[in-house]
Amino acid sequence: MTLQNDTFLRALRRQPTPYTPIWLMRQAGRYLPEYNATRARAGSFMALAKNPELACEVTLQPLDRFPLDAAILFSDILTIPDAMGLGLSFAEGEGPRFARTAADEASIAALQVPEMNDLRYVFDAVATIKRALGGRVPLIGFAGSPFTLACYMIEGRGSDDGFATARRMAHARPELLLALVDINARAVAAYLEEQIVAGADAVMIFDTWGGLLTKEAYRRFSLGPLTQVLAHLAKSARARHVPTIVFTKGAGGRLDDIAQIGASAVGLDWTVDIATARSAYGTHVALQGNLDPVVLTTDPATVAREAERVVRSAGAAPGHVFNLGHGILPRTPPEHVAMLVETVHRVSRSMRS
Ligand code: CP3
Repeated sequence: MTLQNDTFLRALRRQPTPYTPIWLMRQAGRYLPEYNATRARAGSFMALAKNPELACEVTLQPLDRFPLDAAILFSDILTIPDAMGLGLSFAEGEGPRFARTAADEASIAALQVPEMNDLRYVFDAVATIKRALGGRVPLIGFAGSPFTLACYMIEGRGSDDGFATARRMAHARPELLLALVDINARAVAAYLEEQIVAGADAVMIFDTWGGLLTKEAYRRFSLGPLTQVLAHLAKSARARHVPTIVFTKGAGGRLDDIAQIGASAVGLDWTVDIATARSAYGTHVALQGNLDPVVLTTDPATVAREAERVVRSAGAAPGHVFNLGHGILPRTPPEHVAMLVETVHRVSRSMRS
């Protein structure tokens, strides 16, 4: 099916677009009352994520409100360790919990790349969403990075000390952590490939916690396996036409490394100066970002001013996708998102005429 709006894919390929395309990390989520209503109907986050019809419904909700330039599959990065048998749940008002961890020699040795059939609900959601979109905008598939998945698998939950157990393993038992990220890399590669076969037009890898590592450990435990995933996709006849985005939060000082691993685009958090990043890497990769998500919780005039500042510093050259520097916050007023999208489109259009 031909796309009615391919600005997002063109920007990822660093081709000219009439304006800067925009989508938002976590654009389907708790800041939207209609999301909370569907989630309540589903009963739990996982029941919502495992039901392709409901996952499709919430994926489309932000697009029905705002003229966003891409949709993102509604799912979670932790579906892979769940399919490996770790038993994922989300308690109300709390983060993710695993019933079992993969934190020692025996539990890591017992892990296997999951049967892709056990993740069929994700690929069914991709196909359902593609049909429902009818070519309005491209659909983004996604996965967690091998290292970020390892953080949750080792800890069994989120962390308030920067995943110290995972970092301890990086220093004291590097061979164990390497075995874990290697199995995750093979799982992520197969999973993204299947999402592409089901219809994803681009894929993004979320490396939320890679920035916690030392520079050397980051290369070894995060970038290495990410490179392996991208190389697998680049070799696959089924996947190699699809652009890729890699986002490591907190990796401002490592952009030299990240820009070289073979992704089409690199995500930037809000601590990076996007003008500097564009002049250093803009001829090599597309860049995605990087408005501070708290800006959306201020007031409409501040939202418009800060959005314009990011658009102008990124500049009119091809290869910028506007986004937040991390996921949208639950306390964001939806009207502020409307203001953001309108401002990004209007200002970027005016810079090209
Ligand atoms: O962007 C989108 O709209 C697509 C959906 C999406 C979700 N999670 C839905 C979700 C995406 C892309 C993710 C990625 C994800 N999940 C990441 C990487 C990106 C990031 O934010 O750093 C991580 C680390 C996770 C793991 C995860 N899932 C956590 C830590 C939590 C709890 C914290 C929170 O925000 O509540 C989740 C739950 C989750 N995943 C929610 C949503 C909408 C909220 C759960 C709910 O509805 O109760």
